[in-house]
Amino acid sequence: NIKACIFDLDGVIVDTAIYHYKAWRRLANSLGFDFTEQQNEQLKGVSRVRSLQLILGWGGITKTEAEQEQLATQKNTWYVEMINQMTPAEILPGAREFVQSCRDAGIKTALGSASKNSMTILEKLQIVHLFDAIIDGNKVTKAKPDPEVFLKGAEALGIEPQYCVVFEDAIAGVEAAKAGGMKAIGIGDPKVLYEADLVVSGLKEMTLDKL
Ligand code: G6P
Ligand code: MG
Repeated sequence: NIKACIFDLDGVIVDTAIYHYKAWRRLANSLGFDFTEQQNEQLKGVSRVRSLQLILGWGGITKTEAEQEQLATQKNTWYVEMINQMTPAEILPGAREFVQSCRDAGIKTALGSASKNSMTILEKLQIVHLFDAIIDGNKVTKAKPDPEVFLKGAEALGIEPQYCVVFEDAIAGVEAAKAGGMKAIGIGDPKVLYEADLVVSGLKEMTLDKL
């Protein structure tokens, strides 16, 4: 009795983590330190300002709020330069097909992402039309694991939370879905996303009968 599917963007529909990593790393390097890809894992699903604060912590650097604002803007400029070069070839395997199969079955679809760059990415991937509602970082005030982004998605679709399933690659995202009273399907490692109702390696593994 699932009536709506809500999809996270980064790590579910497209793998932008590498671009976030490159841009954050460039920023860290400009401040005189570096961080690993493993540390970068901790930034998945985490908001822009919070990510910056974690990175500054790794470098043992303290910055004022105004300086943080400026650094976050610098990172975003570099990040946007990279995502502007994205093409539809970067959609993760099976993602377009699964979202389309939901639509064909009469299931509503929404995007629920923390990213303020969601629209740019969806446009570059040419999949804006696959979503009945788009809730991104510009429309929410509380970051995951707060359920706000998904509750707003459900509301925009006119579907009650218990009939929604969320697709998420981040622990905080799975927690947000559960906190909102929704079903959560994790994309990634079952040992990491153990709070999800089901975990698959990617949307290529998803079929409607698994909902
Ligand atoms: C997603 C990504 C995070 C990113 C956040 C904000 O949750 O997984 O790595 O920090 O969005 O993205 P933005 O494009 O607004 O900086
Ligand atoms: Mg994600």
